[in-house]
Amino acid sequence: MLYVDGKWVEEGLAAVDPEDRGYNFGDGVYEVIRIYKGKLYMWDAHIERMYRSAREIKMELPWSAAELREVAEQLMDKNPDEAKDDAIIYMQISRGATPRVHDIPAQSKPVLMAFVRKKERPVAEQKKGLTAHLIEDVRWLRCDIKSLSLLGAVLVKEYAKDAGAHDAILHRNGVITECSASNLFVVKDGALHTHQADNLILHGITRQIVIDLAKANGIPVHENAFTIDFLMQADEVFLTSTTQEVMPFVSVNGQAIADGKVGSVTQKLQALFEQHIDAEVLV
Ligand code: PDD
Repeated sequence: MLYVDGKWVEEGLAAVDPEDRGYNFGDGVYEVIRIYKGKLYMWDAHIERMYRSAREIKMELPWSAAELREVAEQLMDKNPDEAKDDAIIYMQISRGATPRVHDIPAQSKPVLMAFVRKKERPVAEQKKGLTAHLIEDVRWLRCDIKSLSLLGAVLVKEYAKDAGAHDAILHRNGVITECSASNLFVVKDGALHTHQADNLILHGITRQIVIDLAKANGIPVHENAFTIDFLMQADEVFLTSTTQEVMPFVSVNGQAIADGKVGSVTQKLQALFEQHIDAEVLV
């Protein structure tokens, strides 16, 4: 069962208004939220970010946080097979259907849609590491908004695939920003470096968890942009995201990072992240 604009709809029977602005313009916001062992993980942080994204695109949400939570809980109840172990909830809010004009008609009414899908944790990849390719960051200048307009992300990921890599590491004029759908960290001399949370990256929830875990465990963190050269000289490189958690990169543009193996700081953070999941979903 899917949740579409206030109704519960069987899989395969959902319809989109041809003038829905999410569909026509990518005019809307979304979140991807983890379920671990049948329980929502970091729900409040995701919903806070969705309100912020909505505010930044001048969209007033008619639902309270409690109402959104109720939709998520019902979604899990109605789809026990999908939601019982490790899964994701996709929740999107489009600005709704209006006559097709670029400015925002006063009568626009947001449309909420949500579904849940089984999603295993990528444990094997986390042990082995992925390959990356450097790609110019062709996205817009408001990457802090979790907007439905994702064509930039789609293309950079595709360019990385064309180059034979798992994912794109993005740069603007030689300065590293993030990846196609995740944040990027490097480890140098025992410290973490990641782009500052400004308009050029999504303020990732996993990114913030990893920063907090690192600091609490004596690993210094620098939230400062760094260059391609710095990346290529790194001791370790990894990405963070809701679906991929703490995922190492072992090579960039065909060049091994350090000895080409998953590094010890990355492994330490993976272990700390694991404990964080357990602590959050067991309460
Ligand atoms: N992607 N940066 C970008 C561009 C992202 O799309 C994402 C999330 C992140 C990581 O944020 P978080 O840790 O809050 O998931 C960083 C989601 C999972 C997606 O679109 O599938």
